[in-house]
Amino acid sequence: MLARARHLLNDYAGYSTRNHMMRRHRTLTVAACVWLNLTGCTGQAPADRSPAPARPSKAAHVSRAPFGKIPDGTSVEIFTITSTAGMEVRTMPYGAIVVSVRVPDRSGRVADVSLGFDNFDDYIVKKPPYFGVVAGRYANRIAKGRFTLDGKTYRLATNDGPNHLHGGVMGFDKLLWHAEPFERDGTAGVVYTLTSHDGDEGYPGTVTATVTYTVSVSNALTVDYYGTTDRATPVNLTQHTYFNLAGEGAGDILGHMLTIDADRFTPVDNTLIPTGTLAPVEHTAFDFRSPTAIGARIEADDVQLHRGAGYDHNFVLNGTGLHHAARLADPVSGRTLDVSTTEPGLQFYTGNFLDSTITGKAGHVYARRGALCLETQHFPDSPNHPNFPSTIVRPGTPYTSRTVFAFGIADPISAR
Ligand code: BGC
Repeated sequence: MLARARHLLNDYAGYSTRNHMMRRHRTLTVAACVWLNLTGCTGQAPADRSPAPARPSKAAHVSRAPFGKIPDGTSVEIFTITSTAGMEVRTMPYGAIVVSVRVPDRSGRVADVSLGFDNFDDYIVKKPPYFGVVAGRYANRIAKGRFTLDGKTYRLATNDGPNHLHGGVMGFDKLLWHAEPFERDGTAGVVYTLTSHDGDEGYPGTVTATVTYTVSVSNALTVDYYGTTDRATPVNLTQHTYFNLAGEGAGDILGHMLTIDADRFTPVDNTLIPTGTLAPVEHTAFDFRSPTAIGARIEADDVQLHRGAGYDHNFVLNGTGLHHAARLADPVSGRTLDVSTTEPGLQFYTGNFLDSTITGKAGHVYARRGALCLETQHFPDSPNHPNFPSTIVRPGTPYTSRTVFAFGIADPISAR
């Protein structure tokens, strides 16, 4: 864990305890609230593909507005974070969900590149497959919902056939987080905090988790994770946005070019649980070490691709520290996305289970492979694989992680 903590290259150097962080956040929050009260709220989602509003006076800012109510009647707000470079991220405290990500293409046309809904109620009623959420307490699968820790066997909720997926029936994606908007040093964002109680979904220990979304003027969305526990427990959080760089609802992602900085991946069994081997990607359809169209080999005759009928695999990233993990580029729009992370793994999921039954933003029907996820994380089912990097967090040693989603533009020739 110490090694893991050291990996975090973050703004919080010198703020090594949660108390320090909270004091810092409180100060920032007061400043942000004063500013927000002065500026008021913008409310509804801007129309798709219209230019982002100009914000000449600040590099990035955040505003808040009502969005909806969860079934018990509690109000949920939506936060709109904008940068002067044309990026706009909207997020809400239910599931710490990223509701939309709007970025320009090479002609300056702005589109929302993330799947989701225009209305809050759809997030509840349509039961989407984790659109935009923070998945936790353990993102991805734990085999048969079972693991043994310090000699004791724990049984978790099973919600994906025989397995535990994305934290169970009431994972972090379905809980209401506490939200604090902030602005500092030309960036803006929201700090979300959640308490996950001892026994929730079968996990030991009470975990306090913090997820901070920060938008910078360079059109990057940084996600910082922090967590403490009062008993040893597995923790593995990820951001589960479904991206389509052509714009949500604009066809499939098979023409997107992808690079993943990984020499190995973790093959899975027919319930998508890693077998435990770290297999070389070389000479397989999993070799994305140079830019490759996602559709080029997705139908290759490879048993691994039949298992999830497409890519749904964890890649073993080569780098350490805050390292580059993947680059996605849409040759048509010119939009690019570079993902860097402190995590050792990346789940590449090609929306295989999207099946046109969900209608999302602007009436768009979300079809199979209409988007992809790049989920930075520790490896799936790590609590049952001693040879995988450990996901166990203990009292006194906080969980820390950082991922940066940096958007850009490439010209037609170099869109890779
Ligand atoms: C998993 C998929 C799952 C999807 C749910 C991904 O993280 O790897 O197997 O279907 O989440 O949306």
